[in-house]
Amino acid sequence: MTAIKGILLAGGTGSRLYPLTSVITKQMLPVYDKPLLYYPLATLMLAGVRDILVISTPEEQPNYQRLLGDGSQLGLSLSYAVQPEPNGIAEALLIGRSFLAGSRVMLILGDNIFFGHGLQTVLHAAREQADGATVFGYWVSDPQRFGVVELDPDGRPIAITEKPAEPRSHYAVTGLYFYDHRASDLAAELKPSARGELEITDLNRSYLELGKLSVHRLQRGFAWLDAGTPDALLDAANYVATLERRQGLKIGCIEEIAWRAGWIGDGDLERLARPIKDVDYGRYLMKLLAE
Ligand code: TTP
Repeated sequence: MTAIKGILLAGGTGSRLYPLTSVITKQMLPVYDKPLLYYPLATLMLAGVRDILVISTPEEQPNYQRLLGDGSQLGLSLSYAVQPEPNGIAEALLIGRSFLAGSRVMLILGDNIFFGHGLQTVLHAAREQADGATVFGYWVSDPQRFGVVELDPDGRPIAITEKPAEPRSHYAVTGLYFYDHRASDLAAELKPSARGELEITDLNRSYLELGKLSVHRLQRGFAWLDAGTPDALLDAANYVATLERRQGLKIGCIEEIAWRAGWIGDGDLERLARPIKDVDYGRYLMKLLAE
C-alpha cells in the first residue's frame, strides 16, 4: 500500500445546529450510539490510513484529546492542530503542511458519514492513485447546496462550481478528498472567496485545470450523510439505528475496525471493552471477541 496520511477536519462553528452547538462542537454530538466524529474517523481507518491529524477549534482540542488520545489504543498515530477561525476547508492543507511533509493525503470532514457495500474497495482504489486528486460525486436532489461537478459522457470532470444557483449537474462533491504531494502548495496559492473562506472547490478546480482531477461516482445505494442541520442529524441517527438494529452489526465502530485490521489484538480490544461491558457498545465489543 502506498504511504498516505490523513486529515480529519473537525472545526467549524456548526451555526446551523444552534443551540445544540453553543458549547460543544457538532462533531461531538451523538449519531445514535456514538459521537459523529467516529464515522469519518472510521472511514479513514477503512482506507487503511493510520497517521492522522485532527484539526479542531482551539477550545475543542482538549476534548478531542480526551476522547481519542494519541490513538495508540486503536493502533493509530493521532496528532492535533488547531484552526483558530473557520477560514475554509482548504485551510486544512496549510495547517497540515508540516504534518504532511509532502506526502499524499486523505482529507475528510468531521461531519461526513459514508456507508455502503464496497466502500473499502472504493477507498483503497483512490488511495492507490499516486498522481493528482480524487473526489467523489454523489447524486443529490438539491445540488445548489453543494460544490457541484459537471461530467462529460465518459465521466471526466469538465467544471466544478461552489453552490451554483443553476446547477448543470446533480453530482455533489462529498467531503472526502484524496490529494497528491501538490495539495499544500496549491492551497497556498488560493485567495479567499467572497464569503472569506479558502474554498476546497477552488483547490479541486486547480487540480482540474492541471488535468489531474478524477471523480469517482458513488453508486445508488451508497449513503452519504452530513449532520449539519437538526433534520440531517436526526436522519443520520435513524439511518444508523435502523441498520444496526436490523443486522446487529455496528457502523463506524472504530475499535472493531482496528481489531479486524489486526492493528490491535484481542487483549487490547478487551481492555477497551471491559470498562463499558454493561452497556450495548461494550457488549458488542465483547461479543466480537467471542466470535
Ligand atoms: P460546514 O457545515 O460548512 O460549516 P460548520 O460545521 O461550521 O457549520 P455551519 O455551516 O452550520 O455553521 O462545515 C463542514 C465540515 O467542515 C464540518 O465538519 C466543520 C468543518 N469545517 C472546519 O473544520 N473548518 C472550516 O473552516 C469549515 C468551513 C468547515
